[in-house]
Amino acid sequence: MPKSFQPGERRALEKESKSLAVELKGVYKRFDKVVAVEKMDLEFEEGTLVTLLGPSGCGKTTILRMIAGLESPTEGDIFIQGKRVNDTPIHKRNLGMIFQNYALFPHKTIFDNVAFGLKYRSVPRQETRDRVKRALEMVRLPGVEDRMPSQLSGGQQQRIALARAIVIEPVVLLMDEPLSALDENLREEMRMEVDNLQQLLGVTTIFVTHDQREALSMSDRIVVMKDGRKQQEGGPEDVYNNPVNHFVADFLGHSNFINGEVLGREGEYTKVRVEDGNEIYAPGSEAWKPGEPVELVVRAQKFDLLPDKEDVTAPEINTFKGIVKDRSYMGGEVSYFVELANGTVLHAISMVSLKPYRRGETVLIHVPPRHCGLLKREN
Ligand SMILES: Nc1ncnc2c1ncn2[C@@H]1O[C@H](COP(=O)(O)OP(=O)(O)OP(=O)(O)O)[C@@H](O)[C@H]1O
Ligand SMILES: [Mg+2]
Repeated sequence: MPKSFQPGERRALEKESKSLAVELKGVYKRFDKVVAVEKMDLEFEEGTLVTLLGPSGCGKTTILRMIAGLESPTEGDIFIQGKRVNDTPIHKRNLGMIFQNYALFPHKTIFDNVAFGLKYRSVPRQETRDRVKRALEMVRLPGVEDRMPSQLSGGQQQRIALARAIVIEPVVLLMDEPLSALDENLREEMRMEVDNLQQLLGVTTIFVTHDQREALSMSDRIVVMKDGRKQQEGGPEDVYNNPVNHFVADFLGHSNFINGEVLGREGEYTKVRVEDGNEIYAPGSEAWKPGEPVELVVRAQKFDLLPDKEDVTAPEINTFKGIVKDRSYMGGEVSYFVELANGTVLHAISMVSLKPYRRGETVLIHVPPRHCGLLKREN
């Protein structure tokens, strides 16, 4: 097995070494007229879990398939541990793969399923037995060697697929929406399982999903994609808090978008007049010139709601009066739609408080300037 790490060790390690497990340089993939992947430069550092995140059809699977050797790039190069692999066949790349519907062989026992990859590597019998046993222990299903896949639940079968992938001690683990067939609770559990196992083994993992929560919860880095192109790349907090464009801000999290125009710098702030006439303060930056058309982005979770009462003092700036038009419970949170006097409707998500605001109630809605993102307006 590759060197194993204690949980939590992985970020520290990242800083020390910078060796790349996988690298894509200027990769394009065209299928006739369809450009599935365009001008893709990606670096996957050894030992990290990187998620490719994006909507259906953006090219995620195509990238995995090219790394695996199931497709070859139309242009550009792919490197695995520093070696160019464009012409290396799939069985010589030593990769572990788990796909959404990569079913187990139904007529083979769990042992034979897990041992499958070892058989083709001529691993001796006793060693095979030991390694299968260890792999099953790692996915927390010890002793199921003699069962058939149909005797296991969906989540357990996916764990067997995981055992089958790690038993060969792959240099990279490729996972294409491996959890999407599972129900919500099981998914959550498997998410943690994959994350823990990945840290324990320290195996570089490329995980594909179109589920932003999945990506945010388990990744060291996230690559956000759209139409075959990389939109943004970074740590989960970075991508979530500092989206570079409308697409990323919209795809990750619940965002309010309001068009506006920069009025100018005021002290530490950039002052913006939004199209409903209100003035909003965003963090100061030299980048914004007066008159520049911008798009203001505010995460629904960043709004504070306050009762509209005499004894309540709300911050002077970025506070507006509105009426609760709609509200709905979402487990631990409440989602509110608040309409301002000029018709703008803002989406706010608050933790469930003892006394939630009623529909029709007048409230004050505030957002601290630091949570007001500004983007160049795209047309
Ligand atoms: N073998 C193929 N022949 C022609 N077009 C293809 C082929 N494989 C993929 N495509 C096209 O390439 C684009 C990217 O497909 P890909 O499967 O990589 O998307 P994806 O991000 O994995 O989507 P999903 O989330 O739906 O799985 C799509 O437009 C798809 O139709
Ligand atoms: Mg896909």
